[in-house]
Amino acid sequence: MKTRTREATVAVSVSALALSLAACGSLMGSEDDGKSAEKKGDDVTVGLLLPEAETARYEKFDHPIIEKQVKKLTNNKGKVVYANAGEDAAKQSSQLDQMVADEVDVILVSAVDAKKIAPSVKKAKEADIPVIAYDRLAEGPVSGYVAFDNELVGQVQGQAILKALGSARRSSKIVMINGSPTDPNAAVFKEGALSQLQNQVKIAKSYDTVGWKPKTAGAHMTDAITAIGKDDIAAVYSANDGMAGGVIKALKAAGLTDLPPVTGQDAELSAVQRVVTGEQYMSVYKPYPEEAVGAAQMAVRIAQGRMVEYDALAGDKSDNATTKNIPSLLVSVRPLTRDTIKSTVIEDGIYKTDEICTAEYKAACATIGLKG
Ligand code: BGC
Repeated sequence: MKTRTREATVAVSVSALALSLAACGSLMGSEDDGKSAEKKGDDVTVGLLLPEAETARYEKFDHPIIEKQVKKLTNNKGKVVYANAGEDAAKQSSQLDQMVADEVDVILVSAVDAKKIAPSVKKAKEADIPVIAYDRLAEGPVSGYVAFDNELVGQVQGQAILKALGSARRSSKIVMINGSPTDPNAAVFKEGALSQLQNQVKIAKSYDTVGWKPKTAGAHMTDAITAIGKDDIAAVYSANDGMAGGVIKALKAAGLTDLPPVTGQDAELSAVQRVVTGEQYMSVYKPYPEEAVGAAQMAVRIAQGRMVEYDALAGDKSDNATTKNIPSLLVSVRPLTRDTIKSTVIEDGIYKTDEICTAEYKAACATIGLKG
């Protein structure tokens, strides 16, 4: 079970932190974890293991931002070796083992299966290669964890459903389409959402979705429609945007035109467009640059043995099943609704208005004051 120092989970301004750390030049390299002889200068190799490619964020944000930041932190001398597991846990273990065999300097891993990756994490540790859990908290002796405040993600989703339902809520039947059972985040999202929804709505059906597959989410939704009746579903909790897409397809295929509120997370472009038209009620905006830049900073600093800076970046603490007090950086999140598209993804430069408000969405965009 993961625990956290909640007061430390407020938004961390990574760039501000980086600046203040740069000011502490005299401390740089003054401490290490006892292996200074092996520690690197700028020629660091960061292994990056991401879990799947069906969810847009990994190829669109996480991978390119981490790569760019590693270059920036190393005068263009560092590099990222990247592998995507395509939701295959065994494949990810061999990808990690290969990176250990290739003697990369540090590994960032977003685990397909938090338990199954643990033996490989242990092998890396034995080979003196630190592993930082990225976004999903892998089990085993990880040296750090960088993620969003995942409990908050679930809370924000749950709160949005209550807001959408208003005073009708007690009699309302809700369907929950949760994420993958092997991803520890899925359980935390669910817990966060339930902390808001329990005793407020009736959870008529709840599903875990192996591999976070949008198609499977759609099949779950069809099953729920059959069991509950299409006109009797007040809202759908979908843990992410990819699955929300599958859910919405299933609702439409069942003949619904007035869709119930459907949640999501990730602020994927297609989901933001669905929020514009009102097909999807909300998403959760997770500022990827903060998470990815933070991960690159932690990875480069630990590889270089700059432990004072590393510890300063990781002000939170997390526990996984095998390791306690993992130095962590947890980034805050915000709800994305029709009202907050501007103040989230547009203001942060994630998407340009033009990208969202393409010809098909121009009219809907205009109704909420977005001009493409
Ligand atoms: C991530 C989400 C993502 C999901 C599916 C979760 O662990 O935090 O952003 O949508 O995995 O890949």
